[in-house]
Amino acid sequence: MALDSECFGTAAWSRASWVDEFDRVGVDRLVLVADEGAVVGYVVLLVPPVAEDPVDLTRIAVAPAERRTGIGAQLTTAALAAVPGRTVLLEVAEGNDHARRLYAVQGFVEISRRRGYYPGPQDALILSLEPKAGR
Ligand SMILES: CC(C)(COP(=O)(O)OP(=O)(O)OC[C@H]1O[C@@H](n2cnc3c(N)ncnc32)[C@H](O)[C@@H]1OP(=O)(O)O)[C@@H](O)C(=O)NCCC(=O)NCCS
Repeated sequence: MALDSECFGTAAWSRASWVDEFDRVGVDRLVLVADEGAVVGYVVLLVPPVAEDPVDLTRIAVAPAERRTGIGAQLTTAALAAVPGRTVLLEVAEGNDHARRLYAVQGFVEISRRRGYYPGPQDALILSLEPKAGR
C-alpha cells in the first residue's frame, strides 16, 4: 500500500481494495512482487477462469528509486508467462511514455482509446497482447 501510494498518489488503491485483491488470489487474481529485501515493485492481473476471456493487467509499479533497472520488464515478462495462451488487455494514459515503451517492447498494440478519460483531459489507451506460439 505504501508503494502504491508513492506511485499513484490520490489514485492509489484503498486498503479494502488491496484486501479484496489478495482475497481473490487463486480465484481470479495474480499478484507478483519484486522483492529486494523490501517490496520494490508489483504487478496485478485479473485472470478470468474462462480461458477465452481476456486477462487484464490492472496494476504495475516500480519504486521510483528502482526504476529503469529492468524490474518493470521482469515483472511484465513473469506476469505474461503466468498466463500462456491468453489475450492480455491493459489501459494506460496516453502521456505515460515510460509505461507505454515498456508495453510496446512486450508487443502490446493499441486497440482502442477512451477520449478524455483521465484528468487533463488525457486519453486512455487500451492495449492488447494476443497470444502467440510460445506464450
Ligand atoms: C512503468 C514502470 C512500471 C516501468 O518500470 P521500470 O522498472 O522502470 O521499467 P524497466 O526498467 O524494466 O524498463 C524501463 C526502462 O529502463 C531501461 N532499462 C532496463 N534495464 C536497464 C538497465 N539495466 N540500465 C538502464 N536502463 C535500463 C529500459 O530500456 C527502459 O528504458 P526506456 O524508458 O528508455 O524505454 C514504472 O515507470 C512505474 O512504476 N511508473 C509509475 C506507475 C505507472 O505508471 N504504472 C503503469 C500504469 S499503466
